[in-house]
This record gives sequence, C-alpha cells and structure tokens, in this order.
Amino acid sequence: MENQRLEYTAEVAAATGPVFEKLRRQYKDDHWRTLAPYIYAINLLKAQKNAVILAHNYMTPDIFFGVADIVGDSLKLAQEAARTDAAIIVQCGVHFMAETSKILCPDKKILIPDLLAGCSLAESITGADVRALKVRHPGIPVVTYVNTSAEVKAESDVCCTSSNALKIVEALGREGHDTVIMTPDKFLAQNVAAQTKIKILFWEGTCIVHERFTSEDIIRIRTQHEGAVILAHPECPPDVLQQADYAGSTAQMDEYIKTHQPAKAVLLTECSMSDNIAAANPEVEMIGTCQMCPHMKRITLPKILKTLQTEAPEITVDPEIAARARRAVDRMLALS
Ligand code: 13P
Ligand code: SF4
Repeated sequence: MENQRLEYTAEVAAATGPVFEKLRRQYKDDHWRTLAPYIYAINLLKAQKNAVILAHNYMTPDIFFGVADIVGDSLKLAQEAARTDAAIIVQCGVHFMAETSKILCPDKKILIPDLLAGCSLAESITGADVRALKVRHPGIPVVTYVNTSAEVKAESDVCCTSSNALKIVEALGREGHDTVIMTPDKFLAQNVAAQTKIKILFWEGTCIVHERFTSEDIIRIRTQHEGAVILAHPECPPDVLQQADYAGSTAQMDEYIKTHQPAKAVLLTECSMSDNIAAANPEVEMIGTCQMCPHMKRITLPKILKTLQTEAPEITVDPEIAARARRAVDRMLALS
C-alpha cells in the first residue's frame, strides 16, 4: 500500500481541475500533477467510507481546498465534530484537535494522519500540574486553552479557544470570580488580561510558532510594506498585539480579510494560513511574513490517504478522562 502508484489521468485532471484553477498561484503544473491523484483518491474513499475531513486553517492549500469537508479554527472544528453524522472523522490538524473530537464524539472513529503532530502548548502542562495549581489557589477557576491533552482538560473547569477566551473569562466574572487561572499559554492569558478587569494568573507555556514574532517585525513590515494591514494571532506576545491592526483567532483573521478586503495584508501566524487566504481572496496582496508549525506540517495528502485506507492511527481517550474533559469542553461550547 505504501508504494502505490497514483496516476494523473484525464479523469483525475477533470475532477481536480476547479481546485487547481483556484490554486494556480500556489502550485506549478508539475507539482499539481503529483498532488491531484491523491486528492482524487481521498475524495472517492471518503465518500465510500462515510468519512468527513475536518481541517484546521493551517493545513496546506492542497488539503484545505482539495479534500477538506469542513475548515476552520479550533472552535469551529470542535463545534462541527459535535454535529457531524459521519461514521469516521479524519482530523487534519494536531493531536489535541483530534482528542477534542473524540471527547465530543466517543462513539465515532477519530483518525489522525500522523500521531506525532503535537503542539508545544499541549506539551507544556500535565494533569498533575493543574491539580497542583488548584491546591495552590483553592476556589479559583481554571480556564484551559483547548491546545492541551484530554487529561489536562479533565482537571479544568472550562476550556477556551483563541476566539472565545475573553468571553469565557468574563462569563466567570459574572459568576462572581474576580481572579481566574489561564493555562497553558502565557501570551494568550496576558492578551486577555489586557482587555478585562478580572485578574488572570497564568502558566508559562508558549507556542513555538507565535512566540517568535516581535514588535521589531511590525516596525520592519510597516517600513517595507506601507499601508499593509497587520493581523496577529493572540498567541503572539502582548507587544506584538498592541501594535498590530487586528488580533483574532485564525477564523476571525480569515473573516476580517474576507469582509474588509484590504489592498495588502500580513498575517503574523502560521504560513499556510496566508496561502489559503491568498487563494480565497485574489484581490488582496498577502505579504509572506510567517512562521511554519512543524506539527501541522506533518499532515500530508499521502498520509491522509493511507489513514483512510487503513483506518489508523485511531485516537483513543480513556472514557473516564473523556467524560470529565467533556464537561470543560461542553461548558465552553455553551458559553460560546
Ligand atoms: P485557532 O483556534 O485560532 O485556529 O488556533 C489554533 C492554533 O493552534 C493556533 O496556533
Ligand atoms: Fe501548537 Fe503553535 Fe503549532 Fe498551533 S501553531 S499547533 S499552538 S505549536
């Protein structure tokens, strides 16, 4: 199965032609001929197996436009996982996203094309760390970013994503809490703290992609690309967000470009996000200042095809941990 040879036939060319038209600026002809047969085979198999592909906004354009059924940020992918009727979910994203789908859909088969697609934030904290935080700060609720393991979610009071973190913290404020703990992303926590009166205690985790952006990058971009609108993800350091023109989750940045159609824009986030937005918004000049997430880039078309063929690797979560993690995820979905 590993050495299968997929041909670029007339049938493949016809079926994938409309996607290629959209991605002409992203892929040269020769490269496309190597990708298209995978897109064709994946789409056939997906239909035969009643599988759905949930793809994060950081997937490369061949996956994002070629095979994904649902694309979005972490929040949307969780909401759609909870909603789908498909028997199999192939999660094109990182491990914590697939685990979130399993927590929400314990009876479905959740597959991930590469089990090693991790996340520096998820790796920065354990369930035992959250238990220790609770002992140190009794009565203070723990808001945990979805970029964590099921075990960490299970110890938390409520989850959040980059698109609803402020909303969740303020909701806890309305319940009478003047202090909350946010784990594990210190920059997300500090960026939320800048927008609320509620005191936020934070954990020392960072995203290896977004921590690399600096306010000097913004000064350089403004000098070199006059008039470009700068959008930053809330996992970037606070001084970057303060100087950016807009901050939001990957879906919120996508929506901003779609509705405002700026002449030039820069996304301070993962590289494929810019490529996907450029393909969907041909009138907007996307300036390529980005950082690559090595975990997200583990997901490729050949691995997706193999996963669908073998129905592996499958994500499993201990049912007791999943049930407790679900409370925190459900509470977030209810508050979103
Ligand atoms: P979003 O929820 O904004 O898509 O972010 C997920 C992520 O991993 C960003 O690095
Ligand atoms: Fe994790 Fe950062 Fe990669 Fe997102 S971009 S998956 S937060 S390492």
